[in-house]
Amino acid sequence: MSDWTIQKLLNWTAEYFKDKKLDAPRLSAELLLSSILAMKRIELYTQFDKPVAKTQLDQLHNLVKRAGQNEPVAYLIGKTEFYSLEIIVSPACLIPRPETELLAERAIEFLRRRTGKQFVCDLCTGSACIAVAIAKNFADVDIIATDICDAALKVAAENIQKYQLNNRVKLLCGDLFDAIVPHLDAEKFDLIVCNPPYVSAGEFETLDKNVKDYEPRQALFAGKDGLDVYHRIAEKADAFLKPDGALMLEIGYSQGHSVSELLKQTNCFRQTAIEKDFHNNDRVITAVK
Ligand SMILES: C[S@@+](CC[C@H](N)C(=O)[O-])C[C@H]1O[C@@H](n2cnc3c(N)ncnc32)[C@H](O)[C@@H]1O
Repeated sequence: MSDWTIQKLLNWTAEYFKDKKLDAPRLSAELLLSSILAMKRIELYTQFDKPVAKTQLDQLHNLVKRAGQNEPVAYLIGKTEFYSLEIIVSPACLIPRPETELLAERAIEFLRRRTGKQFVCDLCTGSACIAVAIAKNFADVDIIATDICDAALKVAAENIQKYQLNNRVKLLCGDLFDAIVPHLDAEKFDLIVCNPPYVSAGEFETLDKNVKDYEPRQALFAGKDGLDVYHRIAEKADAFLKPDGALMLEIGYSQGHSVSELLKQTNCFRQTAIEKDFHNNDRVITAVK
């Protein structure tokens, strides 16, 4: 039996990550170790003196080395947390961000203010984190979630299955609204939500290594000014929304004005509002028809 206890490993790994200037070194160490030991994070602390077996030490060594080279911990352990839900992830999909919880929150609030069954479209669904958060927190909803990437949709399907939402969330593969057209019955959507790719060419180069080198480019990059996908959604949204429906989009911190303007130019929304996230950055734009 090795003399590496859980406590010693946590301390060593957290220090190593600190030296490597990783974000949240202690949390990252806890996540990797709890994944390898198949324990909850809290259990690491209740079993601090437990020695760790050689095979598990070898596994940890491999993951710590990869994390030290900026491979995201969420990809290494295959999951992350979003809106208090465990979400499966793989390198095919973006790792859901805490900032995106604001979009999920506002979507759920919007649906709760309405009556009757609600129809929601989640464009660019990725891991389906937004669709899952909505469906888990609002019962009377049918969601169509789309993505252009088949491999991301496989992850989305695992999350839908994990939370047994198959009868309320339908996944479709295709370019924005294109996938939906053949599946849409007479009803239009009460709400369209989307966290699209919105990184501009200039910004792409400045992204952290763990994002730029590991997360899918297709999930991030959206043309010269980062606004390509917003333009395309704005052009089509009216045709897919009910008369009192809403469009809610995540936006980059500097895109509030531009996206607001391009939504106004469609002349289909009576009201648009931008909301800031917990870092005080513009993050969600809501446009109501
Ligand atoms: C920023 S990620 C958002 C993923 C997830 N909704 C989230 O919030 O974590 C954008 C997603 O859009 C998808 N995507 C990119 N271009 C698309 C397009 N033209 N049509 C549909 N999906 C697209 C990517 O594959 C990626 O999964």
